[in-house]
Amino acid sequence: METGGAQAHAKKMIVMTGASAAESSASHFASVMLTQIRSTWNTFRHLVRARENVITVWPKSYYRRELIPVHCLNRWMFVVNSPAGVQQVMVSNAKNYRKSPGNTQMLKPLLGNGLFLSEGELWTRQRRLSNPATHGTRLPGYAQIITTAGQAMLAEWRTHPGPHEEDVMETFTLLTANIISQIMFGYKLGDSVHTLYEAFVEYQASHGRMHLLEFLGLPSWLPRPSLWRGRKAVDKFDRVLAEILRAGKDSEGEMPENFLHMLLSFRDEEGKPMEPSLVRDEMASIFLAGHETTAITLGWAFCMLERHPEVERQLHEELDRVLGGRAPAFADVPNLTYTRAVIDETLRLYPPVHAFTRQAIGADEISGQKIPAGSFITITSWVLHRHTLYWEEPDVFKPERFLPGNLQKINHHAYIPFGAGARICLGKHLGLLESTLLLAMIAQSFRLRVRAGHVVEPLGRMTLRPRGGLPMRIERR
Ligand code: HEM
Repeated sequence: METGGAQAHAKKMIVMTGASAAESSASHFASVMLTQIRSTWNTFRHLVRARENVITVWPKSYYRRELIPVHCLNRWMFVVNSPAGVQQVMVSNAKNYRKSPGNTQMLKPLLGNGLFLSEGELWTRQRRLSNPATHGTRLPGYAQIITTAGQAMLAEWRTHPGPHEEDVMETFTLLTANIISQIMFGYKLGDSVHTLYEAFVEYQASHGRMHLLEFLGLPSWLPRPSLWRGRKAVDKFDRVLAEILRAGKDSEGEMPENFLHMLLSFRDEEGKPMEPSLVRDEMASIFLAGHETTAITLGWAFCMLERHPEVERQLHEELDRVLGGRAPAFADVPNLTYTRAVIDETLRLYPPVHAFTRQAIGADEISGQKIPAGSFITITSWVLHRHTLYWEEPDVFKPERFLPGNLQKINHHAYIPFGAGARICLGKHLGLLESTLLLAMIAQSFRLRVRAGHVVEPLGRMTLRPRGGLPMRIERR
């Protein structure tokens, strides 16, 4: 990758006359070509590394800089790395920034025109329609679904006479998939949850990485093997969505009304229902956005507890004091301040959505830097959440930062695990409630330890998962 300075250097022109000028200009031309080839080669190597694991490519200097212009394959990309820049791109001038084509390409085959990817009037209408699904008044009911599903998982763990081992990333993903399906669609998934899990793993394998052809600006219709491998995963996914939809239609009119009923009962100004393909896309989007991130948060939280025994001790102390051995309920959440702080701090160091990519529609200026129309913007919460200007001891896991007395010290827009502005996560409060309750329930009864010899490595692709899952030994407290 080449910075703006190197690009300017490559374009420097030398004005000369006569034969020596011809020789010089030939050698200058050769040197410019060489610089370009070298920089293209470096860019290519950089992209290959980014495709493999994007969090490994951010240079150390980024953790102290506020805006980094990067010239890459004839395009400008700006890493916006300050609270003020985030505020401008995501809040005050958000209308000038759309989700970038690369990001859309990765998710489009699975999520179509659902809320996560749609733009403009369609997004406004669908967001307005979806907001009530995660309104605060619904949270107590959702808490009950969460704790019941959590208890079922713990009951299964208790059937093991002694410690046992499993990949908790898989366990948590199945658990949160079942929870979001019950909350949003009123549907218990049964065995289909495994089909969904497999489909998503296959989809991540084929589409989870940035495609080099897309970065090079080649059209999306160009054939590539990963696309049809991903298609098979989408077909699997769609079969389960169709099963959920059938059940939803059968139960229409029944209370309590859920998100699926809201989609099915929608009528536009002309009295037309929502197109079936859009109902499918909204279901896919809410399902995917609503479970993967929460499962990842839990996985990282347990890794942090193992690495920080003093934090684990304080967490246990709070759980024992507030709950006294009984299962947590919605009413307990305001008293579980340390438990919630462990979740908040986990989301700082391991944000499941670790990067936001946007494209500028018109020209803009951020922190004095001109942003030409069409430029790509990257906001990486992985870097921003560890930025030396905005965080004291940025690399240290310290849940205390998020305890009530310390919250005002946190720089607004330097902490964006749920995004910001109009496109802020629809399920922010649900995701926080779910992670806090599940962490409390599990940590109350069990201690989780990474399998000896397994190296935990964060892998930044579509989301920030631990590479190769999280094999953990589960033992009673
Ligand atoms: C800890 C859990 C969660 C995290 C960290 C998380 C994170 C995020 C982030 C960062 C975005 C913004 C993406 C962007 O601006 O490009 C987002 C959007 C979204 N999230 Fe979540 N999320 C979580 C849980 C949930 C849950 C439980 C739901 C279910 C309702 C959900 C539904 C959505 C939807 C529908 C969007 C798209 C919103 C829009 O564009 O209008 N998320 N999430």
